[in-house]
Amino acid sequence: MSNPIYLALDIPQLDAAEALARKVKGHVGGLKLGLEFFCAHGHHGVHEIAKIGLPIFLDLKLHDIPNTVAAAMQAIHVLEPAIVTIHASGGRAMMEDAKAAAGEHTKVVAVTLLTSLDESDMAATGIGGSANDQVMRLADLANSAGLDGIVCSGHEVGAVHRQWKDGFFVVPGLRPAGGAMGDQKRAVTPREARDAGASVLVIGRPISRAEDPVAAARAIEATL
Ligand code: C5P
Repeated sequence: MSNPIYLALDIPQLDAAEALARKVKGHVGGLKLGLEFFCAHGHHGVHEIAKIGLPIFLDLKLHDIPNTVAAAMQAIHVLEPAIVTIHASGGRAMMEDAKAAAGEHTKVVAVTLLTSLDESDMAATGIGGSANDQVMRLADLANSAGLDGIVCSGHEVGAVHRQWKDGFFVVPGLRPAGGAMGDQKRAVTPREARDAGASVLVIGRPISRAEDPVAAARAIEATL
């Protein structure tokens, strides 16, 4: 089985991001580039990182009218991303059109509810009910719109996987056991997330901010 770890390259400088990715490339399965990186470095930056030879995850969280999101998907087609994110709250037509515009080998994955939002933020934007209900509702919508899967937390992935057996699940927010932030009681480890059904494990700071990123990546890989 291929390595499910995608290293989040949340580093603003292109050369520093590239240097880190080259260092750990033997111990991760892919590289995640976010909106900040894409706005700063564009296609050129993605091409430079792609030269390292690992699959690229463009975490752009697209959300606009269907026509615009489809056009954006077409514009990044040339970069041949393995994974691209869009917002499920953009609605069924937006998701359908995004998937139709994506390359054949690109997984289009929906963000449900940003983890920065709590139930009071939801209420303030007119969304009632619990955060969990909203995640499950948007997961169902993404599934019926033909997307490949969703982004979800390590706490949710088991329940979502039971409901969507062949879904592709991207799980961020992981902390290795005994790692730098291993004291977070509710943190899920990469191994727990994988066992619960995660397809991709997004890991950033536990590797990028480690004193020895290669050793950190190797240690996480060894737990899987
Ligand atoms: O926390 P860490 O540095 O491992 O985060 C890796 C990536 O996961 C970041 O790019 C961050 O945006 C994303 N993330 C997320 N949702 C969370 C936690 C992290 O999308 N709840």
